[in-house]
Amino acid sequence: MPYDLAIIVPTLNERDNIEPLVALLDRTLAGERWQVLFVDDDSTDGTLDVLRRLARDRANVSVLHRVGRRGLSSACIEGMLATAAPYLAVMDADLQHDETLLPRMLTLLRDEDREIVVASRFAEGASAAGLASARREMVSRVGNFLANRITGAPLTDPLSGFFMLRRELLDTVVHDLSGTGFKILLDIFASSPRVPRYAELGFTFRERQAGESKLDSQVIWEFGMLLADKTLGRWIPVRFILFALVGLLGVGVHLLVLGVMLHLAGVVFLWSQATATVVAMTSNFALNNAFTYRDRRLRGLGFVWGLLSFYLVCAIGAVVNVEVADLVYRNGAHWALAGFVGAVVGSVWNFGVSAIVTWGP
Ligand code: GDD
Ligand code: MN
Repeated sequence: MPYDLAIIVPTLNERDNIEPLVALLDRTLAGERWQVLFVDDDSTDGTLDVLRRLARDRANVSVLHRVGRRGLSSACIEGMLATAAPYLAVMDADLQHDETLLPRMLTLLRDEDREIVVASRFAEGASAAGLASARREMVSRVGNFLANRITGAPLTDPLSGFFMLRRELLDTVVHDLSGTGFKILLDIFASSPRVPRYAELGFTFRERQAGESKLDSQVIWEFGMLLADKTLGRWIPVRFILFALVGLLGVGVHLLVLGVMLHLAGVVFLWSQATATVVAMTSNFALNNAFTYRDRRLRGLGFVWGLLSFYLVCAIGAVVNVEVADLVYRNGAHWALAGFVGAVVGSVWNFGVSAIVTWGP
C-alpha cells in the first residue's frame, strides 16, 4: 500500500517508549495511509528487539538499523531518504511530542499550501513544561535567538525536533544539509534558498517518561559548529578557524614555556626553545582533539598515535614554512611579509595534512 505520510522516529535506547508511541499513532492517524520508520543507532537496551518484533508483525512499521554512525540529524535525514512518501514527519520516540498534532500538520501541507509545519513549544497556546529545568529552558531560549539569525524566519521554536514537510522541500535542501548534531529543522531552513512557506502549531512538550535525554555538551558544541558553519563556513571552513585559533594559543604557550625556562629556570636557549616547541605542539594537539575534532576525538592508543603523527606533520610543516618564507624573502619581500607568508603556508599544510593523517576517517 502506498503511504501518504511517513513518520521518521530516531531512536537511541528507547525500549519502553516504542510500543506506547505506536499505539498513540494508531489512534491518532486512523483513516490515514501512514507508516512509521524508526532509525536506530545501534541501541544497547533492547530497543532493536522491540522494533523488529513490531516490524515483523505490521507492514507500516519499519526499522533502519545504523551501525558505526551516530547522530539525531543524520538519522532523520537517512530515514526521510529511505521512504518515498510525499509527506514526511520527524518526531522523538520519547513521547514528549504530542502526536495528536499530526493530522493538523498534514492538513496544512496537503490543503493549505504550506511546505513545512513546525510544532512549537513556544508558540501561542504552547507550553514547554517538559523542559524540566530553568537552566534547560534558558539554554533553549538563547539557542532560539541565535538560531533565528540564520533561519531567516522568526520561528518561535527553531530548535524543535517535531515537524512535517513536503518531500519537494527536502529535495531542494538535501544536498546542503550538514547532518551534524540535533538541529535538523534549523538546517532545513538555513539550507533553503528562500524561506519556505511555513506554519507553526503550539503544543505542550510533555515530560519524558522512560529512558533519558541524550542532549549533552557534545550536542551543544555541534550546534555551535552548525551556526558557525552556516554563517562563516561559506568563506572559511569552521575547522580551519578553530585550528588557527588553537595555533595562535600555541604561540602563547610556546612563549610562556620559553620565558619560564630561560629566565626562571636558567636553562640554555636551545633547550628552552626545543622544549617550548614540543609543549606547544602537544597542547595544540590536545586542544584540536578536544575541540576542532571533537566529533572524531581520539582516545587511548589512538590518542598516542595521533600525537606522534601530529608531531611529524608539524615538523614537515615547519620545514615548508621556512622554505617558503626564505623563497619569498629572497625575492625581495619585506621580512615581516615573508615570515607571515611562511607561517600561513605552514599552517595550511598542518591543517590539511593532519585532517587526513591524524584525524582522518
Ligand atoms: N538514531 C539516533 N541517534 N537517535 C537519537 C540520537 C542519535 O544519536 N540521539 C538522540 N536520539 C533520539 C532519542 O532516542 C529520541 O527519540 C530523540 O532522538 C530525541 O532525543 P532526546 O535525548 O530525548 O532529546 P531532548 O528531548 O533532550 O531534545 C529535544 O528537544 C531539543 C530542543 O531542545 C529534541 O526534540 C531535539 O530534537 C530538540 O532539538
Ligand atoms: Mn526528549
